[in-house]
Amino acid sequence: MPAVELVGVTKRFGPVLANDGVDLAVERGEVHAVVGENGAGKSTLMSILYGLHRPDAGHVLRDGVRVRLRSPADAIALGLGMVHQRLRLFPGLTVTENVVIGAEPVRRGVLDRQAARRSVAELAGRYGLEVDPAARVGELPVGVRQRVEILKALHRRAEVLILDEPTAVLTPGEATRLFGMLRGLTAAGVSVVLVTHKLGEVLAASDRVTVLRGGRVTGRFVTAATSADDLVRAMIGRSLRARGASLAVPGRTASPSPSAPAGAAPAPYALEVRDLGVHDRDGVARVAGVSFGVRPGEIVGIAGVAGSGQRELVDAVTGLRRPDAGVVLLDGRPAAGGREERVAYVPEDRAGRATAPEMSLADNLLMGEQRAFLLNADLVRRRAAELVGRFAIRAASVRTPISRLSGGNAQKAVLARELSRDTPVLVVEEPTQGVDVGAQERIHALLAGARDAGRAVLLQSSELSELRALADRVLVMFEGRLVAELPVAEATDERLGAAMTGAAA
Ligand SMILES: Nc1ncnc2c1ncn2[C@@H]1O[C@H](COP(=O)(O)OP(=O)(O)OP(=O)(O)O)[C@@H](O)[C@H]1O
Ligand SMILES: [Mg+2]
Repeated sequence: MPAVELVGVTKRFGPVLANDGVDLAVERGEVHAVVGENGAGKSTLMSILYGLHRPDAGHVLRDGVRVRLRSPADAIALGLGMVHQRLRLFPGLTVTENVVIGAEPVRRGVLDRQAARRSVAELAGRYGLEVDPAARVGELPVGVRQRVEILKALHRRAEVLILDEPTAVLTPGEATRLFGMLRGLTAAGVSVVLVTHKLGEVLAASDRVTVLRGGRVTGRFVTAATSADDLVRAMIGRSLRARGASLAVPGRTASPSPSAPAGAAPAPYALEVRDLGVHDRDGVARVAGVSFGVRPGEIVGIAGVAGSGQRELVDAVTGLRRPDAGVVLLDGRPAAGGREERVAYVPEDRAGRATAPEMSLADNLLMGEQRAFLLNADLVRRRAAELVGRFAIRAASVRTPISRLSGGNAQKAVLARELSRDTPVLVVEEPTQGVDVGAQERIHALLAGARDAGRAVLLQSSELSELRALADRVLVMFEGRLVAELPVAEATDERLGAAMTGAAA
C-alpha cells in the first residue's frame, strides 16, 4: 500500500487548470521524483499534498485511508513534512530552537533546553544529518540550513518528506550530500517526494518518476529503466534537439568568440574591475584585491562555493553596493555609483530583488523601459506579448500579477527583461536555476546570442557544466579572492573543484 496517494486531483486558479485529474502514488521508503516544465503544476500538487491548497476535485489517501488536509497542521499531524525552496527558518535562533519551535519538549511549562538539544542531536545522528545543535542558523551555509529544515520535519515525525526544488540553492557538493542523506531516510522507511528540473538528479537519486505536463500526468517511469530522453519526451512531447543524454552538459551553441584576431591588440574591456575590496556590515572583508576584465563579445564565468564573495563582487559591479577599495570601470570610465544603467542584471534572488510581485507580468517585463513606452498601453501589451512568446513564458495573461506565475515562469520573465535590454554589459547569476530543460536550452542560446552581439557577459553559476558550455574563461573565487583563471578548455571539474576549495591557491 502506498504511504500516500493523490487520487484524481484537480485544481483551478481562475481560468488556469493547474492540476487535471492527477493520480500519484508514493510508496514507503522510495524517492519519487516529480518533473515537468515550468507551470506544469508540480508546486500546486505539492501544496495540495501539504494542505496549503484545497483541490477542487479528488482526494488524498494516507496509508490507504482517505484524509482531509485543511491546513499544513493537518498534514503534519498525518506525518507529512515539506521543505520549501525558500527556507523558512529564524536566522537569529539556534539550530535546536529552529527544529523544535512549535513542537517543543516542555517541563513544567517551560522549554526543556537539554531535552531539546538531546533530541535534535539524536535525530541528526540517526539519519546522518550532521549539524551543530547550538549553532546560530543565520551563520550556517545554505546546505546546512536545509538540513535543519529536514530535521524540523523529522522532529514532527514526518514519514513523507516533500522537497520542492531542494538543490536550487545548493552547490554540487551539497547536493550530493543531500542525496546521500535522503538514502539514509528512505532506508529508515521515510518516503521522499522530490521536485526538480535537474534530470541528472532524477536519474541518480530517485526510484520512480511521475511526469506532469499541462497539469496532467504524461508519464510514469521506473528510474532504473528510463533515460533523460524518455523523461524529456514525456515533459515536452518531443526530444531536445536530438542530443539525448548530453542534456546535463549542453553543448556550446556558438563557437567561442576570439576577443581579437590573432596578432591584433586585444579589444579594450567593456567591464573592468581593479583591486576591488568589499566589506560586509561587520567590517569583514568579503572581496579582497580582485581584478579582472570582460571584453565585448566575451563571456567570463565566475565559479566558487557559495559565500566565496561572488554575491558581493556582483553587487559592486552592478552598483548595488559601494566598494571599499578599488574601482569598477565601464568602457574605461569609473562607474557613477548607484544602480548602473549600462549594466543589465539578472540576480539569483529574482523574486526578491528583481520583481514587483503585485505588478502585472507586462509591467515587470518592461520595468525600466516605461519611459519609452510612456503610458501607451497598447504598445506595452504588444512588447510584453513579444517577450512572452520569445521566452515561452506561461501565464494566463500579461495582466496577471507576476506573483501568480509558477516559480520558473517568473524567473523567465526577469531573464526576458534583462537579456533583451540593450546594455554593453550583462551580469547574470544562476541563469537556469529553477527553469525547465527546454528553457535552459533557450536561455543558453540567448546568452550566446548576447555575446555574439558584442555584449560583455559576466556569468556566475554553480553549475560547472553551464560555465563550461558558455564561458570563454572561468574565474574561481575562494574566500573573497580570485584564486584561478582558467581558459574554458582547461576548466575541468577537477581543476575547478580544487580551486573552489582553496586547494589550488
Ligand atoms: N496562486 C496562484 N494563483 C493563480 N495561478 C496560479 C497560482 N499558483 C499557480 N498558478 C498557476 O498554476 C499553474 C501551475 O503552477 P505551478 O506553480 O504548480 O507550476 P510548477 O510545475 O511548480 O512550475 P515551476 O517549475 O515553474 O515551479 C501555472 O500556470 C501557474 O501560473
Ligand atoms: Mg514550482
